[in-house]
Order: sequence, then C-alpha cells, then structure tokens
Amino acid sequence: MVPHYPTKRSALVPTLLYAQDEVGYLSDEVIREIAGRLEVTELEVRNVISYYSMLTTKPRGRYNVQVCTNISCMIRGGEQILGHCAKQLGIQNKQTTSDGMFSLEEVECIGACSWAPAAQVNYDFHENLTPEKMDGILAAYRKKGTQ
Ligand code: FES
Repeated sequence: MVPHYPTKRSALVPTLLYAQDEVGYLSDEVIREIAGRLEVTELEVRNVISYYSMLTTKPRGRYNVQVCTNISCMIRGGEQILGHCAKQLGIQNKQTTSDGMFSLEEVECIGACSWAPAAQVNYDFHENLTPEKMDGILAAYRKKGTQ
C-alpha cells in the first residue's frame, strides 16, 4: 500500500480496512503492527479508528448488518427495518449473535438515499427494503455462512 501514497501515514485508512477484513477486527496486535509499519504511534492509529464507524476494535459477526435510519431511509421505513432485524436476529444495535454469524448496527447515510430504505451487509448494498425482503436477505447470508 505504501508506495501508492505520498507519505506512509496516508496509507493508514486503507491498511486498516485490509487488516480488518483479514483478521475480523482491529486487535491490539494489529494496531501495534500497523503503527510500526507506517511509523506512527499506536495512539494516532486509535484516533483514526475512533473517527471512522466502519473500523472496529471489537470482533463483529461474520456478516455486519448496517441499517441506515438517516432522513431518507427514516421516512421510508428504515427504523422499521432496523427493528425487524433486531427482532429476527435476537440482538440490539451494536450487538452480535451468539453464533457469531451476524452483527447489527444502526448507521447514518450510506449513500443509497434514492433507493431508501437501504442497508449494507459487509460490502454489499441492499435497497428498497421491506421486512419481507430483509428476511430473505438474512436467510441468504445465514445459508452462505453455514456452507
Ligand atoms: S439516508 Fe439512508 S442511504 Fe441516505
């Protein structure tokens, strides 16, 4: 990553994303390793992590269900979708199912306002959601996760 950026520090966010995808979360060990490689302090790395909601220092489920409840989605039922996911998964916002399959997160705008209500699961977008459509999406991930 480093040669693609003008300074080592500029590679911090993409490096954190790659590491998170590989390890599952940004553990103390990962933070220490990245700080060393990019020649920044661990505190600087932690400050960046705390700024970006997509970065986490806590383990998440295999599928991180992020439901948008920002204005466009709220008007078109985003809060209902979030509540439905919570009920179906048996967890609340920022929690992970006991089998480690799903995490649930309420998020701000994910840039899919024209197709509200919308959700993002890992890197996949799901739009024009209804509770029934969400059931199918969760079932598909559950099936994929158990194969
Ligand atoms: S408000 Fe939900 S995607 Fe923009």
